[in-house]
Amino acid sequence: MSRVAYVNGRFVPHADACVHIEDRGYQLADGVYEVWAVFGGRLADAEGHFARLERSLGELRIAMPMSRAALTLVLREAIRRNRVINGLVYLQVTRGVAPRDHAFPTRRVRPSVVITAKPVDMAAAEARAAKGVGVTTTPETRWARCDIKTIALLPNVLAKQAAREKGAGEAWFVDELGLVTEGASSNAWIVDRDGMLRTRDLNANILRGVTRKSLLELIAREGLAIAERPFSVEEAKQAREAFITGAGALVTPVVSIDGVPVGDGAPGPVAMRLRASYVSDAQSHAV
Ligand code: PDD
Repeated sequence: MSRVAYVNGRFVPHADACVHIEDRGYQLADGVYEVWAVFGGRLADAEGHFARLERSLGELRIAMPMSRAALTLVLREAIRRNRVINGLVYLQVTRGVAPRDHAFPTRRVRPSVVITAKPVDMAAAEARAAKGVGVTTTPETRWARCDIKTIALLPNVLAKQAAREKGAGEAWFVDELGLVTEGASSNAWIVDRDGMLRTRDLNANILRGVTRKSLLELIAREGLAIAERPFSVEEAKQAREAFITGAGALVTPVVSIDGVPVGDGAPGPVAMRLRASYVSDAQSHAV
């Protein structure tokens, strides 16, 4: 089946999709992105991702390229044209094309918009979750605005690659106090020794994960003990359970940290239950 991508107003064969060499995203990482999980051909956590997109664009002073309603239609069309039932849809918006200069272009440029959609084998994803992933830790080397979902991801890229080379599925950034901030492409959670769910608070320099937010709401509805409070690598290693959240990971159990097993080294019951609840909730609210 041939894939198609959306590039600046047109659907084109994926293999032919391209942007100009002076796109500011390409040259300067001057842009933002969003990733939605797709369930049953529909967007999961749609509102949360749109709200964050608008916020990220606002912080960079890039205009929304089209209304939310129009963007929803285009995202859905990308999903439909690629015959994605379950998968991921990626949106990137950059400041646009202009002669290279660090400062913003002086003449008005149109933001560049690229959308791709790809299927995810849900059975394989479930099998991966049922096995759990290892994480490695790495010093926090990113900039001070990790709340912006910018396409400038080099520290995340290097951290993820280092994790992969050690056979791990994710890397956790650790700040100068020894506290976990978040993953290279996910938020980090534990169930601590007292059975309390813990994840880093939003005063920290982390991305405001949309899955994190939905899961916090679900946890509140279920009446589980939760604290948005930092945890150290040591606490995580001694925790009952650990897991990560994100549009790609959904809720994925973490079974080891730097090679040290978490709990009994198998996916924890709380993480697995939260995964099932989150997926079922997200499926039923997908638009
Ligand atoms: N990453 N933290 C970071 C650094 C991320 O890149 C992501 C998502 C998250 C989780 O956010 P959300 O729940 O809104 O997906 C946290 C996406 C999936 C990616 O880069 O592909």
